[in-house]
Amino acid sequence: MAEIILRNIFKRFGDLVAINDLSLDIKEREFLVLLGPSGCGKTTTLRCISGLETPDEGEILIDGKDVTNKRASQRDIAFVFQLYALYPHLTVYGNIAFPLLTQRTAKKKIEQEVNRAAEILQIKHILGKKPKELSGGDMQRVALGRAIVRRPKAFLLDEPIGTLDAKFREEMRTELKKLHVDIGATTIYVTHDQVEAMSMGDRIAVMKLGVLQHVGTPNEIYSKPKNLFVAKFIGSPGMNILDCKPERDPDGRLTLRLSSTGVCISISDEIQKIILDKNEENKELVLGVRPEDVMLSLIKEENYIKTEVFVVEATGSYNIIDVKLGSDIVKVRTLPTVAPKIGETVYIGIDMGRISIFNKKDGNSIM
Ligand SMILES: Nc1ncnc2c1ncn2[C@@H]1O[C@H](COP(=O)(O)OP(=O)(O)OP(=O)(O)O)[C@@H](O)[C@H]1O
Ligand SMILES: [Mg+2]
Repeated sequence: MAEIILRNIFKRFGDLVAINDLSLDIKEREFLVLLGPSGCGKTTTLRCISGLETPDEGEILIDGKDVTNKRASQRDIAFVFQLYALYPHLTVYGNIAFPLLTQRTAKKKIEQEVNRAAEILQIKHILGKKPKELSGGDMQRVALGRAIVRRPKAFLLDEPIGTLDAKFREEMRTELKKLHVDIGATTIYVTHDQVEAMSMGDRIAVMKLGVLQHVGTPNEIYSKPKNLFVAKFIGSPGMNILDCKPERDPDGRLTLRLSSTGVCISISDEIQKIILDKNEENKELVLGVRPEDVMLSLIKEENYIKTEVFVVEATGSYNIIDVKLGSDIVKVRTLPTVAPKIGETVYIGIDMGRISIFNKKDGNSIM
């Protein structure tokens, strides 16, 4: 099983910097998710790791060995592409068996491996079919099967379940995770779906325009995002973002004045100290709070802010209530039984123990 290290990788296509100084240590047996919007460099990163692309600068180490200039075939890594390429003239069985045939594996062993893969992927009933007879989902399962039978040191999966329908995606997520636990191979999994990333990754690496934004456990990324991009990208809905400025109250204590309403919010001694220590007292800041860390009340409570209901989105297991705070909209997650009317006056409280604060100019988190 492999440890994969990327050191200061750059990949350019003409003027475009597809990967910009990427360094990542992927531990042996780890399930790392590369997450980011379209065009952020996820596929290019995988192609560099697999050997299909050579970085312009930087080093790639697999198990301590420099493979930067080694061919794909010398890396013992299986790559499942976003767009699967199956051999049209071979059956599903033949397609899955193909990598083993090229390794001159014994027939009996091939049969065992193909059956095991087909079992895991629930495709035993289509082993005799040709690719043109398959649905997109089945084709993707066959492509996965072909990777599984190789029992490689590492799997690189590029949106492997992206084309499947929602129900099957959910099942596949669990299956792939189980497969990872069973096989224990280091896995790098690409997706632009943050829910998938949160539910599957041991760690998540968030990228934007070729630049790594944050790498951490799902919990770290969710609760303490390193910058505003990550704060907004992770979570459904993303973090509420409120412009504010530190301001002294008559007692000299630091508060945060919300730009949209002019309301001042008290902050703990600890947060005051962080703002002062980081020299952010006179800066434009942004307060970030997750929808589940905002409380909603129909009556005025201490430190709650008066707002008006804008939209109520019901999901079944919870409601998202959009409230108007001056020019800002704040999303509040509530029980499904809480359903105030549009236009109704409500009060919101912010769990100040769970907030994030960012510098507005560079977007970086200060706490
Ligand atoms: N062979 C190439 N020639 C020129 N530009 C390329 C090439 N491959 C990728 N790019 C560009 O590099 C950037 C990163 O592309 P990449 O395919 O890695 O993104 P991605 O994160 O995988 O996106 P998606 O989610 O859409 O698959 C994009 O702007 C893309 O247009
Ligand atoms: Mg891609």
